[in-house]
Amino acid sequence: MEEIYLDNAATTKVDDAVAKKVKEVFLESYGNASSLHTKGRESREKMESAKKKIATYLNCNPKEIIFTSGGTESNNLAIRGLAKANPEKKHIITSVIEHPCILETCQDLKREGYEVDYIKVNNDGLIEVEDISKKIKDNTLLVSIMHVNNEIGTIQPIEKISQICKKQNVYFHTDNVQGFLKKDLPLTSIDMMSVSGHKFCAPKGVGFLYVKKGIKILPINTGGGQENGLRSGTENVPGIVGLAAALDIDFKINEIETSRDKIIEGLKKIKGVKINGSIKNRIYNNINISFYGIEGESLMLMLDEQGIYVSTGSACASTKLNESHVLKALSIDEMYIHGSLRLSLGTDAIGKENFIIEKITNAVKKLREMSPFKLNLEEENDKEKNN
Ligand SMILES: Cc1ncc(COP(=O)(O)O)c(C=O)c1O
Repeated sequence: MEEIYLDNAATTKVDDAVAKKVKEVFLESYGNASSLHTKGRESREKMESAKKKIATYLNCNPKEIIFTSGGTESNNLAIRGLAKANPEKKHIITSVIEHPCILETCQDLKREGYEVDYIKVNNDGLIEVEDISKKIKDNTLLVSIMHVNNEIGTIQPIEKISQICKKQNVYFHTDNVQGFLKKDLPLTSIDMMSVSGHKFCAPKGVGFLYVKKGIKILPINTGGGQENGLRSGTENVPGIVGLAAALDIDFKINEIETSRDKIIEGLKKIKGVKINGSIKNRIYNNINISFYGIEGESLMLMLDEQGIYVSTGSACASTKLNESHVLKALSIDEMYIHGSLRLSLGTDAIGKENFIIEKITNAVKKLREMSPFKLNLEEENDKEKNN
C-alpha cells in the first residue's frame, strides 16, 4: 500500500542529506563537545560551525543562539528564564491559541503569583494588534505570541505586534516552531524566538532559542554550564548539525501551496464543509477542515487504514478526546469542531491531489451514512455559503 504522509505539522521525515550528515557525526565526530581532546574539539567545531550557519541565516550573532531540545524547552526557557531574571515585573500577555507548552507554562507562573492576560482571536483565528497594546501596563514583562498556529496554520502579524512591544518597552517572544523556514520573519523587533528542528526535516530532540543581545535571562536547568551557562547538559551535536543542514533543503513551497489549494477546492465540493481559519493569512501547507456531522477521529482512522496519515486538532491533543482549544476560540459550532481534520502537507501530496480528495470524499460519505444523527446537509451548505 502506498503511504501518503500529511501530518507534517506534527513532525516531519528527516531529509536524506540531513540524515547523512547526522550519521557522520554519530559515527565519526562523537566526542563530547566539552572534552579537550581531538574528538571533543572536532565535535565542538561542528557545533560552532552549525551555530554560525544558523546565525548567518537569521542575520544575528551566534552568541544569540542557545541550542535546546526543541520547541517545548525553548518556550519554557524564554518565559521562565526571562521571568527569573526580571522578578520585578509580574504581568504576561499571550494568546488563547498558543501551543500547550506556552499555555501550561503561563498557568504555572500564575500559580507563582503572575498575572496572565490571554488575547482572543477573531473568527478567522487572527489577533487584533490593538488588543495587545490595550493590555500592556507598567508591570508587563513579556508578550508571547506564536507566529504560525500549529492547528489552523494562521499567520499572526508578528512584525506589527513586536513593534508595539518595542515602543511600549515590553519584551516580545514568538513561538516560531511552525513558521521557521516556511515564512520569513525578520528579527528586527523580536527579542526571543523559539525553533524546533523536527518540524523542518531535521531530527527530533533539537531546537534553539534566539535571545537578542542584552536581554537578561536565567537558566532553568543548571549543571555543567553549556551554552554560555544558559542550558546545561551535553550538547546534541548530531541533532545540531542536522538542524543546520536542514537550512539547505528545498521545501518546494510553491508546489505544495498549489497542491494545497487544489485539495481545498476538491474538498469544498463536499456538502456541509467548513475551512477553519483565515485562508489568506495561512501557512502554505495547512488545511484545517470540518465535515458537519461526523467524528474527525473516525475519519482519521478510516484514512489511516488506506495509508493516508492526517491528524485531528494538534498531535499533542490527538490521543485525548478533548475539543481543540484553538477551534473553540474561533467560535465554531460543536458539530463542526468534532468533525475537524488537519492536513499539513509535504512533498508526498504533490501529484496525489485527486487521490487524496477522492479518499476523503468517500470516507466522509461512508461515515455520514453510518451517522445516528439526521443530517440536513443542504441547510448546512447554504448556511456556510452565506457566511
Ligand atoms: C507551535 C508549537 N510550539 C511548540 C511545539 C513543541 O515543540 P517540540 O515538539 O519540539 O517540543 C510545537 C509542537 O507541536 C508546536 O507546534
